Amino acid sequence: MPQTLRIILLAIFCLPLCSRGAFTNEANVRATVAMQAAVPRAQADPGHPIFHVTAPAQWMNDPNGPIFYKGFYHLFYQLHPFSDESGPKFWGHVRSRDLVKWEPLPVALWPSRELGEAEVWSGCCTINGLGQPMCFYTSVGPAKGAFDHAEQWAAVGDDDLITWQKSPANPVLTDALNEKKIYDWRDPFIFHDGKKTFLVTGGHMAREHQAAVNIYEAENPELTKWKHRGVMFEHPDTGAPTVECPNFFKLGDQWVLFVSPYGKVQYFVGDFDAATCRFQARTRGLLDYGSSFYAPNTMQVPDGRRLVWGWLNGFPGGRGWNGCLSVPRELGLSRDGQLRQNPAPQLSKLRGQPVTWRNVRLDNGGEILPLPKTNTLEIQAEIDLPTAKRIVLEIQSGTKTGPPINVSFNGAELQVLDAIAPLTLPQDSRKLTLRIFMDRSVLEVFANETVCITKIIPSLDASPVLEIRATDGAASAKRIDAWPMKTIW
Ligand code: FRU
Repeated sequence: MPQTLRIILLAIFCLPLCSRGAFTNEANVRATVAMQAAVPRAQADPGHPIFHVTAPAQWMNDPNGPIFYKGFYHLFYQLHPFSDESGPKFWGHVRSRDLVKWEPLPVALWPSRELGEAEVWSGCCTINGLGQPMCFYTSVGPAKGAFDHAEQWAAVGDDDLITWQKSPANPVLTDALNEKKIYDWRDPFIFHDGKKTFLVTGGHMAREHQAAVNIYEAENPELTKWKHRGVMFEHPDTGAPTVECPNFFKLGDQWVLFVSPYGKVQYFVGDFDAATCRFQARTRGLLDYGSSFYAPNTMQVPDGRRLVWGWLNGFPGGRGWNGCLSVPRELGLSRDGQLRQNPAPQLSKLRGQPVTWRNVRLDNGGEILPLPKTNTLEIQAEIDLPTAKRIVLEIQSGTKTGPPINVSFNGAELQVLDAIAPLTLPQDSRKLTLRIFMDRSVLEVFANETVCITKIIPSLDASPVLEIRATDGAASAKRIDAWPMKTIW
């Protein structure tokens, strides 16, 4: 969608809502106006992604409350509407009918100053026992630090999840519920097991360290009364400072926990005992080996599959926008308890006309392949490495300005620029499949459906080339496809 059209649509959407009285709060009107003012600058920035979810402008971080409801996939996100730097948080909102095209919506949640609220932090959405959509989030007060004074609040949504009423029962969870003080207590996430509804939070049990996920059980269908069931999971690394944004869900017959420990996002796979409310992990790993993927949040879609979006960060400042979400990744587990991640299949609907190469010999000095004339691309390469020790892909601007984006594999590690991930090939097949998404300043690389590396990059020009070669032995690319990618708006 062209930028001007997007601005007009946003304005059309917001104005009737103002007159309908949805924007009862002055803070929200000011937020919307500040966002609108920054839109032209943000959208004109050549590094602004087009097929990753972004706020229309200004700062955004964590994805919040992903939920499929009444025919739409909804995503909310942490938003600081007044600048392109971090500040007091609101919830922004987008929705999609098909996970391909997305629609920006008005700011969903803002701090209720009149109720003593200064920030609306991360959380989740669910449907309560009365069939009402609800969101749960961490509420931070004006003169109180999130370190030791957070509360968990709830709001009830309308059918479009556009207008939210904060629950009269707020705060729905306070420190008084906890048998022991929890520091940095935040980011409620709700899951169900059998007939029971549980909520987990992040935090740490000592002023420093003892990172732990705490668990609460709902005591009424309205989900306004909760009982603390204790610590569900103690982080096994004694040095872990905290865990933020826990997500806990079932994949097949296994339970999976995601935590964001102020560093690379970790997953744990194991068993959950609903009677004792303890989670016992058997395997662990990382969701992404770059340092730009954080605070992911997951959605179960109607056919049962689970998708995850992460917050991509580390962009240069001062451009009217900062931050975006990863592409949706579909989750699975391998037989040995490793997380599998694949770009959601719907993303292929964004592909334009492909350029395809078949049976490319890589051990003969390699090839230089002209890519589609754009810097919003997907490249898929299926490579056989019968004996080669190393393969290298370099994606570079046609004008050779700026350093190339270097992706390499040496039989044991995948490297994307300075980020390294362990990766071994199956003994019997020696095949490497790479899917590389380049969206101006965002690069997401998926290897063999397991390893992911995300990097923020300087944007390439609109006539990029791919140089691909192997060293020390034989290798060939059975097939390389490159597609220009269309916008999600
Ligand atoms: C993770 C986080 C959350 C918190 C939110 C505030 O990035 O620190 O723990 O709720 O961001 O924006």
